[in-house]
Amino acid sequence: MRLLVLNGPSLNLLGEREPSVYGSETWDSIAAGLRTRAVELGIEISFGQENSEGGLIDALQRERRSVDGVILNPGAFTHYSYALRDAIAAVGLPVIEVHLSLPEARERFRHRSVVAAVCIGRIAGFGALSYELALAAFARRGSGQK
Ligand code: DQA
Repeated sequence: MRLLVLNGPSLNLLGEREPSVYGSETWDSIAAGLRTRAVELGIEISFGQENSEGGLIDALQRERRSVDGVILNPGAFTHYSYALRDAIAAVGLPVIEVHLSLPEARERFRHRSVVAAVCIGRIAGFGALSYELALAAFARRGSGQK
């Protein structure tokens, strides 16, 4: 199984970005942990990060035939990007929405996810572990289902 881990805006700044909310671990360190876990699970994993809405949509379109699923943290686009929502539906890939923080426990504008309805699942609030749990979910589920 091949998975793409795709991050939205400012997630490249993890470690220095609001550490009280997102923790002090850098993305490179989180990605290294995911890579190790993926090897253990027999999953091929690749990574992407885009600060723009169009960049995220382009990445989903570009990878749509190369991967079996996507672990997606859309950042703030989660809450208002209908274009991203439509792109997820359009590519037809199974997507798990992940968040480091628990958006529902934060500001009101974060309480709504406009992408959740086109994802197969959602994991939020566990910091870097949210990504690893999504990886485990894909591993248990297998690549057969859409
Ligand atoms: C986030 C939550 C979003 O509300 C926020 O805009 C982010 C990060 C998270 O991982 O907790 O950029 O997606």
